[in-house]
Amino acid sequence: MPDVEVLAANFPIPGMGFLAVNSFVIKAEEPVLVDTGMGIESEEFMKALASVIDPGELRWVWLTHDDADHTGNLQKVLEAFPRARLAANALAVLRMSTAWAVPMDRVYWLNSGDSINVGDRELTAVRPPLFDNPTTIGVYDNKTEAFFSADFFGAIIPSPARDADDVTEGDLAQGIIGWASADSPWVHITEPSGFIGALDRIRRLGPKMIFSAHLPPARGKTEQLLELLARVPASTPFVTPDQSALEQILAQTKGGS
Ligand SMILES: [Fe+2]
Ligand SMILES: [Fe+2]
Repeated sequence: MPDVEVLAANFPIPGMGFLAVNSFVIKAEEPVLVDTGMGIESEEFMKALASVIDPGELRWVWLTHDDADHTGNLQKVLEAFPRARLAANALAVLRMSTAWAVPMDRVYWLNSGDSINVGDRELTAVRPPLFDNPTTIGVYDNKTEAFFSADFFGAIIPSPARDADDVTEGDLAQGIIGWASADSPWVHITEPSGFIGALDRIRRLGPKMIFSAHLPPARGKTEQLLELLARVPASTPFVTPDQSALEQILAQTKGGS
C-alpha cells in the first residue's frame, strides 16, 4: 500500500473482542487525511499523523461522517495543519457547528456522487449501502481503486489484526454480519431487493482494496465481503448487552484488578 498510510487503533469491546478504528492518509499530490481517530487516543493519533506527513503538506481532511470515533481529533488536526480543507457532507458540518466553531471558509461540502480533484487522482464521495449516520460519505480513489468505506465492511474481531487476511474466515463472517446488524439495525426492515441493489453498486465499482474504518485493510476481498453482507437482512438481529451484562463486566474488572 505505498499510496496509503493506515493510522490504526483498536478499541476493546468488553466480552466481544476488538473494533479497529482506522484513519488513513492518501498520499496524493494533494495529501488527504480520511477521518481523525478517537479523542481518547489523541496523543498517539497526532504523533502517528505527524510521522507520516508534515504540517504544511496536508491539504484535505475528508470526514466520512460526524460520529465521535471519526471526529476525535478533528479540531486538533485543523489547528496543526493550517493548509488543510475539511471535505464533508453539509449536514455533518452543521451538526458539528452546534458543538464548536467549524471554520466555514475551510469547508468543502460534498454529496454522494461529487468528486474532488487532488492533483493526481479524483476522489469521489460514495454513500455505502450501510451506515449509522445520515452524513456518511465514503471515498472512492480512482488511482488506487480503493474504497474508503466509513463504517461499512466493519467487523468486531477476536484480536487486533494488521490485515484482513490475518482474520480466520469464520471470525470474519461472524464479525462482518454481526457488525452490520449492530451498526445499521435498519437493514432488517429494508426491502431486500433495494439492499441487494446497493451492494451491486459497490460490486460494479469493483474496488481492489477496502479501507474500512472498522476492519483491517482488505485486498482482493470485495466479492467475499459483499456475499457475507447479502446475508445480513435475514440474519438474527444483533441485541446490545443489557444491565446484567454490564454488571458481569464490572464484576470481572473488579475481580481482575
Ligand atoms: Fe458511525
Ligand atoms: Fe465508526
